[in-house]
Amino acid sequence: MRTYLVTGGAGFIGSNYIHYMFRKYGDSIRIINVDALTYAGNLENLKDVESRDNYTFIRADIRDREAIEKIFAEYDIDRVVHFAAESHVDRSIRNPEIFVETNVLGTLVMLNAAKKAWELPDGTYPADKRFLYVSTDEVYGSLEEGDTYFYETTPFSPHSPYSASKASGDMLTKAYWDTYRFPINITSCSNNYGPYQFPEKLIPLIINNALQGKKLPVYGDGKNVRDWLYVDDHAKAIDMVQEKGRLGERYNIGGHNEKQNIEIIHIILETLQEMLSEDDPRKALVSKDLITYVEDRKGHDRRYAIAPDKIKEEIGWYPETMFKEGIRLTIQWFFEHEEWMKNVTSGDYQKYYEEMYQVK
Ligand code: NAD
Ligand code: DAU
Repeated sequence: MRTYLVTGGAGFIGSNYIHYMFRKYGDSIRIINVDALTYAGNLENLKDVESRDNYTFIRADIRDREAIEKIFAEYDIDRVVHFAAESHVDRSIRNPEIFVETNVLGTLVMLNAAKKAWELPDGTYPADKRFLYVSTDEVYGSLEEGDTYFYETTPFSPHSPYSASKASGDMLTKAYWDTYRFPINITSCSNNYGPYQFPEKLIPLIINNALQGKKLPVYGDGKNVRDWLYVDDHAKAIDMVQEKGRLGERYNIGGHNEKQNIEIIHIILETLQEMLSEDDPRKALVSKDLITYVEDRKGHDRRYAIAPDKIKEEIGWYPETMFKEGIRLTIQWFFEHEEWMKNVTSGDYQKYYEEMYQVK
C-alpha cells in the first residue's frame, strides 16, 4: 500500500486534497497528515475521514527536525505532499518572521528528513519516492494588464514576504534536484477557492460578511486581477503530477479564470441573491451598498495569470469546475456549514479582523 505524508493537511487545500485522495483511491492508499494546527489548521475539516484505518493524524511542527525524522523512521513514506505553510499575504506584511521560519526553514527540515530516509547507499533514490512542493503563482511576481501569462520559465520576482518565503522554499526544493537528484516536483498554482477556506481570504470573507450585512472591504481600486481555480481541480492536478510528472520539473496549475476583485464581489452578491430563499432574513442584508473601498495592501500585486499549457500537454490535466458552478458549490457549502464558520471566526480571528480592518 502506498503511503502519503501530507503536511498541512488540516488547512484549506490540504484537507480538500485528503478528501479528494480518499474519494479517488479509497482503501488502497494510506495518508499520514502532519500538521501543527496553527490558527489555520482545523481538525473539523477532516471529521469524516478521521475514523478510517488508512488515515493517521500527527500533530507536529515541520520546523521540529526530531519530530519529523521520527515520522519518517516510523512509517515507510512513499510520497510527500508538502502544503504546510503560513499562507496569508496580509499577515506576512504584518509579521514576516514566522513566514521565513515555516515556509523556508520548515521546508528545509522536510527535504532533509525525506532525503535521509530515502537515500540509498549509492546516493540514488528508489523509483517510487517523490516529494512535491506546493508552490504558488506569486513567486513570479506581478503582471500588468496586457502582459501575457506566467509560464514555468518566467523568472522569479516575489514581492511580499509571503511570496518571497514561498519562492525560497521553492528554490531550495529545486536545489535538491539539481544537487542530489532528490526526486521532486514543484507545482505553482493560482488562487484557490472552495469549501474549508479560512475567512481571512477574499472569497470566504466576502461571503461571510455579506450574509451578516457587514462591510465588504475592497483594497485599492478593486481592479487587481486573480486567476481563480476550484480547489478540487488543484487536488486533482497535484495527484496527476505525482503520477505522471517528469522528476525535477515544475508545473503551473490554473484554469484561465482571470477576474478583477470587484467582479468577484459582484458575482458573489448576485449568486447569494439567487440562492437565498425569499423568506431567509439574510436576503435583505446582502447588498452592493456594503462594498467599501479601503486602503490598498502594501506592495499589492496587480495581476496574476497562469499559463497551464505544460500540465495540459504533458499530463493531460484540465480544470473541470467552471467558476459559475464552483462559486455556487462554495456558497452552498458555507450555507450548510454555518457552525464551522462560527467556530473559526470566534476568538483569535475577531482580534485579527479588528486590527487588520480597523473596525470595532
Ligand atoms: P492554510 O493556511 O489554509 O493551511 C496551512 C496549514 O499548514 C494549516 O493546517 C496549518 O496548521 C499548517 N501549518 C502552518 N505552519 C505549520 C508548521 N510550522 N508545521 C506544521 N503545519 C503547519 O493554507 P492553504 O491555503 O491551504 O495553502 C496550502 C499550501 O498551498 C501553502 O503552501 C500555500 O502556499 C499553497 N498555495 C495556496 C494557494 C491558495 O490560493 N490558497 C494557491 C497556491 C498555493
Ligand atoms: O495566487 C496564489 C495565492 O493566492 C496563494 O499563494 C496564497 O496563499 C493565497 O492566500 C492567495 O493570495 P492572495 O493575496 O491573492 O489572496 P487573498 O484572498 O488574500 O486576496 C485576493 C485579492 O483580494 C487580492 O488582490 C487582495 C484582495 N482583497 C483581499 C482581502 C482579504 C481585498 O480586496 N479585500 C480583502 O479583504
